[in-house]
Amino acid sequence: MGAGAGASIVLASVGVKAAPRLAGVDIDALLARMTLDEKLGQLAQARGEKNDTGPFVPAGSEADVRAGRIGSFLSVYGAETTRRLQRIAVDETRLGIPLLFADDVIHGFRTIFPVPIAEAASFDPAAAEAAARIAAVEATANGLHWTYAPMVDMTRDPRWGRVVEGAGEDVELACRFAEARVRGFQGRRLSDFDAMLATAKHFVAYGDAEGGRDYDVADASARRLAEYYYPPFQAAIAAGVASIMVAFNEVNGVPMHANRDLLHDLLRRDWHFGGLIVSDYTGIRELIAHGVAATDEEAGILALKAGIDIDMVSSIYVDALPAAVRDGKVDVALVDAAVRRILSIKAALGLFDDPYRNCDPARAKRETLRPAHRVAARDLARKSLVLLQNEGDVLPLSKMLRSVAVVGPLADDRRSMLGPWAPTGVPGDAVTPLEGIGAALGAGAHVVHASGGEAALAAAREADAVILCIGENWDESGEARSRVALDLAPDQQALAAAILALGKPVATVIFAGRPLTINALAQHAPAILWAWYPGVEAGHALADILFGDVSPSGRLPMSFPRAVGQIPIHYDQRNTGRPASESERNTAKYVDAPWTPLYPFGHGLGYSPVAYEALELSATRLDRTDPLEVRFSVRNAGIRAVEEVVQLYLRDDVATTTRPVKALKRFARVPLEPGEIKQVRFVLGASDFALLDRNLRPVVEPGGFTLLVGGSSKTELEAKVTLEGAEERAV
Ligand code: BGC
Repeated sequence: MGAGAGASIVLASVGVKAAPRLAGVDIDALLARMTLDEKLGQLAQARGEKNDTGPFVPAGSEADVRAGRIGSFLSVYGAETTRRLQRIAVDETRLGIPLLFADDVIHGFRTIFPVPIAEAASFDPAAAEAAARIAAVEATANGLHWTYAPMVDMTRDPRWGRVVEGAGEDVELACRFAEARVRGFQGRRLSDFDAMLATAKHFVAYGDAEGGRDYDVADASARRLAEYYYPPFQAAIAAGVASIMVAFNEVNGVPMHANRDLLHDLLRRDWHFGGLIVSDYTGIRELIAHGVAATDEEAGILALKAGIDIDMVSSIYVDALPAAVRDGKVDVALVDAAVRRILSIKAALGLFDDPYRNCDPARAKRETLRPAHRVAARDLARKSLVLLQNEGDVLPLSKMLRSVAVVGPLADDRRSMLGPWAPTGVPGDAVTPLEGIGAALGAGAHVVHASGGEAALAAAREADAVILCIGENWDESGEARSRVALDLAPDQQALAAAILALGKPVATVIFAGRPLTINALAQHAPAILWAWYPGVEAGHALADILFGDVSPSGRLPMSFPRAVGQIPIHYDQRNTGRPASESERNTAKYVDAPWTPLYPFGHGLGYSPVAYEALELSATRLDRTDPLEVRFSVRNAGIRAVEEVVQLYLRDDVATTTRPVKALKRFARVPLEPGEIKQVRFVLGASDFALLDRNLRPVVEPGGFTLLVGGSSKTELEAKVTLEGAEERAV
């Protein structure tokens, strides 16, 4: 097999067409010239460090590059820094194989967009795709080739801090965002200079963590895995994702870093995934702590046999596997296959032709934090803010206000606007709420700020209106930030109570990486805007919404529990044999709290009410191969322009396995001027009606289905359709 053919196997399966330029390297010939140590060096990923002047590599790393002991770097970026290291790899190693530079470019490189859960709240995958594209343009101009995003982990547990990195609780929403982000990062083709390898992570069931504790055990049935945890990875693969990162956790008793059944048999063999499989940070060494390996060597053998190509940071492959291969404990063919994959990816990026393609300081200067990028960040931030309640139409506030108090610990917290996971972001780039509100009101207005205590209360007392900014700071959510309670901090609750008691117009803005339990506040605060962490344009986007230049249009991608004891709480639950009922005692509910969420999935208000009308289906009886058209109207029944997020859900009324009471199938943003009516049209096909049968095979069964539409998962209209035919049909 020639080099071109070897490369095209991988490329085809990551959705990349083999480009002629790949002929520039003969991968098999290169492989044949490599020593075992050089091969294992390609599989080693070393980490960089960072100080005030930027990223740098630890002592000894340059010598390791020179010795062919490093194939890629984590967290090393910058056009000049990467050029220097690349030059060593290309000019000073025996084979001159270029390095790959990877980092966590999660929601922006320097232009930081809203955190991923906030982007999901936009219900606008195209905007997330555009954000990922901008992130890739900036990141590739700054030396990077590879991002560890999108995180496509599903979860129903907001105690888990990494909720902030995902797309929420719903599979349909998560799949649409997964594929959009992959497309955005990778662009049209990997050989383009601004294309970046995307990584779907963390495979798999990382969000199933027992007790919501990060890294903890996942014990998930085959059905739960297939229905819930796998689909976003499948969507990312279908979109051509170049790599997949392995999860830290164990699944059903086997740590993922040693899980051959799920990595090799499922990902590689059944799903035909031909891209890179990368460990998580020291994940291979952690097999020892998991208790499935006694030594580094055993851990390395387990990981390689399971199917992991790249060893992030452990350096076990490069240190311990040479002896293991020589002693016959592991077949060199496994090493060769992994090396072929990484060389093919390097070739697909065009690095053998131009190893310095991402190392141009002039391009870095030109592309980083462009004004147009900030415009996109502001637009997406506006779309991601969710108006939870607005009693008495407190919002929007008037721009004629002459005196406003902007108070609370988040009101001027620049760092927190970027969220917990923006390692390449710069806090100084962020516009705080205080600054954004000040800019919107202009010099004539008196904007007073205090972060808490008596000063905040005094400022509020003097002002005509109060904007109260509370919630979690950036370091209270994210990785390793699990919580047992989801209440606001006691001092914030006290501040809110005191300010609300003043009887002034108060807009409460809550920053957080996850749903919190805000029952008490919700009873007293008339207007609550959920802001997540909005990114560099936070303050401007907030002001746009607070003063009514734009109507809020974000929707919750996760249900908000009333109490931690309700977790897991999600809209697509099963009915059970005893569905919860107010009047029936022995039903699926609690004795000490309602069973319903405080705010349901999909909820979010605009500045005008929207009426849903005239739901009709193209047929009430349907052959299972025919498409079904669902039509309805939405009418802006208020006086302000809005953008409504219309949502279509489906229930399978009777099936051979139990089905959710409703499941999201389609959504769209519909702009509506005051009084305007628009007809919405969605088309469903066989796969929308499919379920996994008792053997987990996807089938469409005959029988009745209910279509439900509305502006949240508390849908408003419904209609029935019957799928005809005697037998189930495989899809
Ligand atoms: C996280 C990954 C991340 C990696 C590299 C790990 O702790 O789990 O999501 O990509 O670090 O920074």
